[in-house]
Amino acid sequence: MEFTKEFFDRFPKDFRWGTATAAYQIEGAVHEDGRGPSIWDTFSHTPGKVFQGDTGDVACDHYHRFEQDFDLLMSLGIKDYRFSTAWSRVLPEGKGTVNKVGVAFYDRLIDSLLERGIEPAVTLYHWDLPQALEDRGGWRNRDTAFYFQEYAALMFDRFGDRVKLWITHNEPWCTTFLGHLMGEHAPGYQNGKMARAVAHHVLLSHGLAVDAFRGHSSAGQIGITLNLNTVYAASSSDVDRRAQDYADVMANRIFLDPVFRGRYAELTDAILAPIEDGFIHPGDMEVISRPIDFLGINYYSYVVAAGDPENPGVVNDVTPRTDVTDMGWPVNAKGLTDLLQRLSQEYTTIPLMVTENGAAYADHKVEDRIADTDRIRYLEQHIQAVGDALSAGVDVRGYYLWSFMDNFEWAFGYSKRFGVIFLDYETQRRIPKDSAYWYRNLIRTFQARLG
Ligand code: FCB
Repeated sequence: MEFTKEFFDRFPKDFRWGTATAAYQIEGAVHEDGRGPSIWDTFSHTPGKVFQGDTGDVACDHYHRFEQDFDLLMSLGIKDYRFSTAWSRVLPEGKGTVNKVGVAFYDRLIDSLLERGIEPAVTLYHWDLPQALEDRGGWRNRDTAFYFQEYAALMFDRFGDRVKLWITHNEPWCTTFLGHLMGEHAPGYQNGKMARAVAHHVLLSHGLAVDAFRGHSSAGQIGITLNLNTVYAASSSDVDRRAQDYADVMANRIFLDPVFRGRYAELTDAILAPIEDGFIHPGDMEVISRPIDFLGINYYSYVVAAGDPENPGVVNDVTPRTDVTDMGWPVNAKGLTDLLQRLSQEYTTIPLMVTENGAAYADHKVEDRIADTDRIRYLEQHIQAVGDALSAGVDVRGYYLWSFMDNFEWAFGYSKRFGVIFLDYETQRRIPKDSAYWYRNLIRTFQARLG
């Protein structure tokens, strides 16, 4: 399927077509220029945590190659780019002394983007907490929220003149659940009580950063990025609907409700460890629900939930697995339309931005060509789904494809490829896949419509 010029009629003229990355997944240079260690350095170097012992030590060596990488972005006509800054590169201890060389790195990086006409969108936290703060209790410690606010304020101060789009956190769900309940991500705990505390402190830090931003003179916009899943009930039975509710709180409402309604969803206590009296300080929920300028949504997959009549607390995942990506994630583009509509109906009328969407597939390089038709099909369906949401009146302002290039996919190491640029990790050669040219063509068609 090709997108015609008419397809884009429903898109706003300034719709952002971007790609996304994150610091630890691409930068490498972990010991260079005064960068302090982060929890992902520790985790990836702990035997058994990451597939085949892969680490982000070198990754895509983007730290040394960002100029070429941005040339590549430019040659593809991609004018929006979302990336994250490594907290421990600018504040090696997480607080206190600023690493000037680290700040200078992001200074150059941002200028390089702007020189090429590419608009940066900066995520302040994409999971790489400074190890020094982890040693003081990490996100379990309320103080970390205030250190995050200081770090955020520093970034607004240094880069607010040039960066107009800010994202506080990427996917607090993963920090909370993968990091502290399932143990699959750094720092690797498996403790429900901890997870509950982490969720609250991460949310608090988000609100505190928004406060810092409003107190700053910069003219940009700030939001948060949540990973959200559309949850369907396996049937209309009460049991299945209840399972759907449970799964929805667990996947979505756990962060949506505090941010947009200033309270935790009713089922939160039943699903997670209850919070102790006095744990939530007076005023916390007001801070957490401070108005934001846009909501970032990362959408990859969906869930079909079924209940168990004998056991009301149990949710069975009965999602069909006929069409799955290389991650094993079931594909359902309509879930994205439904999600965007639901958000605009139930939660907020602020602009929505898809800050990540994309797919891993096992790519085959044949004489320097990667014919990634599966990825193109996935992207087509999901961009169509964004178009459907726009037709239904939802205010969507951007789409950032995950990812610009293959990179360190967390616990899966380098075994999963999400990029539209292929990375030959032996040589650090970058090779655009067919999907990169397809995306270039899509953007060209969009622009041609503008005349
Ligand atoms: C998201 C993460 C991103 C990447 C994609 C595949 O959860 O934000 O870093 O790992 O999934």
